[in-house]
Amino acid sequence: MHTSAAEVGDSRPKELALALARHERDDPGFWDFATNRRQGGHAFFQYPAMMVPELQGTLLDDLLAVAPDTTCIYDPFLGSGTVLLESAYRGLAFFGTDINPMATLLSRVKADPPSEEEAAAAVTRVVTRASAAGDEELHEFTNRDKWFNSDVALELTRLRASICKENEARLRRFLWVCLAETIRMVSNSRTSTFKLHVYAAKDLAARKPHAIETFTSIGASNAARAGEHWRRIHSLPEDRKAGAISIVRGSVLDDVNVPVRVDAIMTSPPYGDNDTTVPYGQHSYLPLQWIDHADLGADFDADLIRSTGRLDTVSLGGSLVNALNPADRARLETASPALRDFNATLEATPALLKKVLSFSRDYELALRRSTRPLREGGFSFWTLGQRRVGGLELPLVRITAEFLMALGHSEVTTIIRQLPRGRKRMAMRNNIGATMATEHVLVMAKGNQ
Ligand SMILES: C[S@@+](CC[C@H](N)C(=O)[O-])C[C@H]1O[C@@H](n2cnc3c(N)ncnc32)[C@H](O)[C@@H]1O
Repeated sequence: MHTSAAEVGDSRPKELALALARHERDDPGFWDFATNRRQGGHAFFQYPAMMVPELQGTLLDDLLAVAPDTTCIYDPFLGSGTVLLESAYRGLAFFGTDINPMATLLSRVKADPPSEEEAAAAVTRVVTRASAAGDEELHEFTNRDKWFNSDVALELTRLRASICKENEARLRRFLWVCLAETIRMVSNSRTSTFKLHVYAAKDLAARKPHAIETFTSIGASNAARAGEHWRRIHSLPEDRKAGAISIVRGSVLDDVNVPVRVDAIMTSPPYGDNDTTVPYGQHSYLPLQWIDHADLGADFDADLIRSTGRLDTVSLGGSLVNALNPADRARLETASPALRDFNATLEATPALLKKVLSFSRDYELALRRSTRPLREGGFSFWTLGQRRVGGLELPLVRITAEFLMALGHSEVTTIIRQLPRGRKRMAMRNNIGATMATEHVLVMAKGNQ
């Protein structure tokens, strides 16, 4: 751990840095969380680049010990809602935004799943109706037959129709998440990568996925997970259960989506352009073709799923338009000398330079917008993976720290964790090599302490 806590003024940054350092002193591999398995609501759906719940939970516990007046946490890049659940398990209010409708659907379900009994009964009803249904007209969308074989498409059509027959929106949303995870398992796209990528012909011929059977098993597991979730909430003291949860689908670059005031930010931003890192949008594209859009909330925008790449194009760093604007470049490089030095190594490869500049421009704006509602003295926690561009490692931690310092924040500490073997797989299969072998949590405080 590298520590540079503020020297004067508010003692909280120093106290927090010390509290975080203590874990490692007692156990050098503490932050690795090498053997943890996702449990309860955290395991409803496999979203890309999910954080380790226990790690974020530890950060929240240390934050609460140092700043007990913390009541509201903000995650501008909500994803699967890991920080949301860990905040709820500590009775904290939570505000989250994400551009991806799959992320906000999942987070809404995590925030308020049905009880185990309600969930299990709904799964049984859906499966009974779907199994009994006669032939229907298949649910249509572009390229459906590329992504699903005809038996699977028929079973998914029946499951979809059956879920639509449920009366309660809260139950339907839970069932859509079960269907989304089913789709991940039964589509023709490989489960080993987050990109949409059809299996080789011989693998496709050997695969015999059954959608209703898969849904039955996922539904049963998720009902049990909902039970675990509620047992954890019910074990909280009465005065700690009331944290309100608010979720908005939209870009953090649009001011309107940002909350008014928060005590802390805890998040993991996307790392760069979606071609070479994690394509969250592609990963969610197929489920979003099957889920009834009426259940995705008034903030759903159908334009986002008009093609497999659309959502990723409108995500952070997804558009290269005007990326080489010299005034923007000068401003960003003045704020971050680490970015300036890195860009200097890319002068001979303008295409890569353009990608880095597009990402940094969006990223700096995202940091600016998302930290605006943070109260003075409030802490922010940035979980950051490593990323390589043209064979070189992008100094994302330094760039983040420098952008934030230019916005008036100061460094508290940085935690470095080794990624366990299983988690490296994500990077390898996404063709970015060993770029995610370590992960950093950068901790900053708002104000020049
Ligand atoms: C690293 S993931 C977050 C994962 C999350 N921490 C978890 O544990 O599941 C980054 C998220 O940023 C979202 N994102 C990308 N661009 C965005 C934008 N402009 N505004 C809001 N969210 C965005 C992606 O959809 C993705 O869910």
